[in-house]
Amino acid sequence: MRLDKYLADMNVGTRKELKKMIRSGNVTVGGSVCKDPAFSVNVPDEVCVMGKPVRYAGYEYYMLNKPAGVISASEDPKQATVMDLFENVRRKDLFPVGRLDKDTVGLLLITNDGELAHRLLSPKNHVDKVYTAVVRGIVTEREITAFRDGLAVDDSLTALPAVLEILDTDPALGQSRVNITIREGKFHQIKRMFAAVGMEVLYLKRLSMGSLKLDETLEEGAVRPLRDDEISALKNGCGL
Ligand code: URA
Repeated sequence: MRLDKYLADMNVGTRKELKKMIRSGNVTVGGSVCKDPAFSVNVPDEVCVMGKPVRYAGYEYYMLNKPAGVISASEDPKQATVMDLFENVRRKDLFPVGRLDKDTVGLLLITNDGELAHRLLSPKNHVDKVYTAVVRGIVTEREITAFRDGLAVDDSLTALPAVLEILDTDPALGQSRVNITIREGKFHQIKRMFAAVGMEVLYLKRLSMGSLKLDETLEEGAVRPLRDDEISALKNGCGL
């Protein structure tokens, strides 16, 4: 990998700044000053900028407990994104795996591993996503059956079979608390499924994606790196 790309990937500066920094002799590779931005670095080589080592991190995996009010995008000119919640993370090629609506909270995987992201999101890999929701309306066996049988949501969406579980219902308030497991992630999928049975989602939180469970000790807005066992279980679960 080119020296300037290595340093740009690690967010040390822009390509332009880095070329200048390298040409001015501030960067060493394997202990010797290297003034060539195109120099080919082997990732085990020790690269230092002004004497400080900059280690190359390959793939990175983080769990975010997404709060309401931020969008699931890598960048946006107007609105706060989930990436604004990352501090002290060097890589700039991280992205959220799939989208949660602005008002949805809970588990969001953030990585730069495009292959894993693709596999987790592809319906053909049957990766279950479990959500908990509060809906306006009293959920009964009728909705459980309709969701299980693959609901015709609208002209553009017939949902794959989904598992709906009633946690409790409050007839006085006219609300239900449910868990719902889906295998796909179409735009506003769960909200549209409930709308199709005449109910409104008032609160939505993602609890898990495949084997990866939201760490309940993680406060809304907080991020932590995935543990090695979480990474391997996620990869195994989708054939990687
Ligand atoms: N379904 C929705 O409607 N919204 C989400 O954020 C996720 C699933």
